[in-house]
Amino acid sequence: MAFASTKKYSMGIRDQGYVVDFRSDTITKPTDAMRKAMSEAVVGDDVFGEDPTVNELQNKVAKMMKKDAALFVPTGTMSNLIAVMGHCTGRGEEILLGDKCHIFTWEQGGMAQFAGVCPHTVKTLPDGTLDLEELESKIRPSDVHMATTKLICIENTHNATGGRVLPLEFLKKVRAIADKHNLKVHLDGARLLNAAVAMDVTPDVITQYVDSISLCFSKGLGCPVGSALIGSNDFIARALRHRKALGGGMRQCGVLAAAALVGIDQGYARLHVDHENAQKLSKGLKEMGNPVFTSIPENTQTNMVHVLIREDIPSMQAAQLLGNVADDEIATLGQSIQVKLFPETANSLRAAMNHHVTEKDIEMALKKFKFIGEKLDKNGLK
Ligand SMILES: Cc1ncc(COP(=O)(O)O)c(C=O)c1O
Repeated sequence: MAFASTKKYSMGIRDQGYVVDFRSDTITKPTDAMRKAMSEAVVGDDVFGEDPTVNELQNKVAKMMKKDAALFVPTGTMSNLIAVMGHCTGRGEEILLGDKCHIFTWEQGGMAQFAGVCPHTVKTLPDGTLDLEELESKIRPSDVHMATTKLICIENTHNATGGRVLPLEFLKKVRAIADKHNLKVHLDGARLLNAAVAMDVTPDVITQYVDSISLCFSKGLGCPVGSALIGSNDFIARALRHRKALGGGMRQCGVLAAAALVGIDQGYARLHVDHENAQKLSKGLKEMGNPVFTSIPENTQTNMVHVLIREDIPSMQAAQLLGNVADDEIATLGQSIQVKLFPETANSLRAAMNHHVTEKDIEMALKKFKFIGEKLDKNGLK
């Protein structure tokens, strides 16, 4: 078991009964191999460009994506913001992006707060893509009254639609629209490697259609911290200045890059396990024929599962019931099982797989879904 945390570093939550934590792929603890690499990392001052481990990581990911250069940054949020700042060099410029994408929904409007850039949204389709006609229609004409469109942002895998993988045909069309209107394309590829695994392609097959990529090490790759922004030499030279201005210039951060190198190597190699576990959960929910909870395995493409809930049951309450221990639970199930997960929409929950999730966790979670689903069907929310 090369890529698994030992008990010593485990979450210490099993003693509360059986706990399955599906909240996110960001909750993982670094593996033994990561901790070893971190303790042995050769470091230097990365603001001076002198950290050999950071340099190795940057070179490695730039090569993987077949781009010129990369920059190690603390978070995906900073990476996306720096990308917007690098592509939109004037205040009052505008970017086109999906209304359910992470950059628009979960990054505090950083582009407006810090970069003076305006977001212009396009409807996100259920598979994580955008309506291309709508996208093109929203590009501003040259008009003194209007902001200037500069950038299109896309997200792959698409988090809010359940970890969906964007088809290459869609990426190709986005590229063609961008080229026609002289725009750049940024990919929020926090989980790009999940997309590559799901499509069984090398990442550059996907990244050939975009100008820049933000890749997270702290999601499915299991690292404690870090993202990389990847693109052309000019773009990364600008990104270096923006990173410093935003306070993201770290010093001996080779200790973090060392973990990322293990993530790229060992974490990447096991992402398929997360996808298999997601399929097991999704199929299990469907086949259970539960009156309240179900899922659509065909839509479960990577490490996220959308758990669909019967309309009369709000997702917040469903999440609470799954995460708590019911009075009659030990008598019925033989033990307590807590399934932690977040509501995604009013009628769905998101279950995210990560390297701590085992096959047994899936079995136990299914037991709890069955138990709570049958209770809700019989008694409603009382
Ligand atoms: C698609 C996507 N992009 C960007 C981010 C931001 O990453 P971070 O939490 O490192 O800022 C996340 C975080 O969950 C994400 O899911």
